[in-house]
Amino acid sequence: MNTERQDLMEKVTALCKRRGFVYPSSEIYGGLGGLYDYGPYGVALRRNIRNLWWRHVVDLRDDVVGIEATIIGPSAVWEASGHVGGFSDPLVDCLGTCRRRWRADHLEGDRCPECGGPLSEPRQFNLMFKTHIGPVEDTASVAYLRPETAQGMFVNFKNVVNSMRVRVPFGIAQQGRSFRNEITHGNFIFRLRELEQMEMEFFVRPGEDERCHEFWIQERLLWYTDVIGICPERLRLRPHREDEKAHYAKASTDIEYLFPFGWGEVEGIANRTDYDLRTHQEHSGQDLTYQDPETSERYLPYVVEPAVGVDRIMITCLLDAYDEEDVRGETRVVLRLHRDVAPVQVAVMPLSKKEELIGPAREVQRSLQQVFRVEYDQTGGNIGRRYRRQDEIGTPFCVTVDFETLEDRAVTIRERDSMAQERVPVAGLLDRLRERFS
Ligand code: GAP
Repeated sequence: MNTERQDLMEKVTALCKRRGFVYPSSEIYGGLGGLYDYGPYGVALRRNIRNLWWRHVVDLRDDVVGIEATIIGPSAVWEASGHVGGFSDPLVDCLGTCRRRWRADHLEGDRCPECGGPLSEPRQFNLMFKTHIGPVEDTASVAYLRPETAQGMFVNFKNVVNSMRVRVPFGIAQQGRSFRNEITHGNFIFRLRELEQMEMEFFVRPGEDERCHEFWIQERLLWYTDVIGICPERLRLRPHREDEKAHYAKASTDIEYLFPFGWGEVEGIANRTDYDLRTHQEHSGQDLTYQDPETSERYLPYVVEPAVGVDRIMITCLLDAYDEEDVRGETRVVLRLHRDVAPVQVAVMPLSKKEELIGPAREVQRSLQQVFRVEYDQTGGNIGRRYRRQDEIGTPFCVTVDFETLEDRAVTIRERDSMAQERVPVAGLLDRLRERFS
């Protein structure tokens, strides 16, 4: 049975808190809008998402390298990139009773959606968090927390070309935190003020950008369906209209997911042309052109950029995986997460806390840990309750050590989705699980 989409977000939000995926940040002080902390299973899920992105965008290719640039950067970088002047959203104030602030482009009509009061004229609100570096707070010390990781790749373009044996076409990838002082946050971790991005800038010869753009759109779409197991029917590609393209983009296509609140952007793949290298060249006075070693031709490469937030992928995975079904008159909640993103891949459980079961169960845990992400669970509660807990965190397999194990040296594998059980000799357990995972 598929859960009604309307209350899905609330159910997933509650599960995330109950089961240690996501907590509201600084909750004991009332929390802060658009900021969340990640609990143990959330951390594991995020790490798996990050690793799978890195593996497919960097490690499995020989034309992409990684960097890690600073999160805080001098004003000069953000003036050149156009973010100081243009990274803003139109803000309106409610002049009625609630006095709330809204993003004008997210409103329908000219009244406050909360109290129906009149609204102010829109004004531009810059989304960057501003601070100062050093003890003196003057204009020379102004710095910003990055609103995107991309600029780190552009300002290091020359460094990478000079220090690595890269040749256009090649890409620079980065994962890391970005900050946006969003006017309206919400939909749980969909729109955050502190987010984590995974971006790759792929540098190509001008003229080859459109083909490259199409390649990365298809490549990234396949990653969602084939690598992290998102349902293809809930994904679509949406090219940007002329009036919604970012200031740097010649063309942009979003990979969208059918969220409970409608279609929403998971990832954007933009053709940024030579906008960024050109503007940094002009502002810094440094030559950022690339010289083709074979033809000696000099040019500013064009850039195709797949850009996504880890938090967006995480909420997509959770919503896509959440399911409820009726099992003998009780509701079973199960996260049907893809085995490669699941925080725990195998849970090992002794049937009871009796000493004679703990030794063999620990042995099974140790042997499986070499290959899988394993959790050992000997907490109280009957085995059914422990299976249900693993279902809720999306663990594909449970392995149970029982009293018969002491006689027949075999254990039970219980599969999450079908709940089917299989008796397997301990000696063949690792191979059998490998088979089931492949
Ligand atoms: N470098 C290009 C860039 O930053 P973007 O469309 O503004 O483009 C890229 O952001 C991705 O980052 C989005 O597709 C989304 O996955 C994620 N993202 C952006 N703003 C976000 C926010 N406030 N909260 C969570 N994720 C966000």
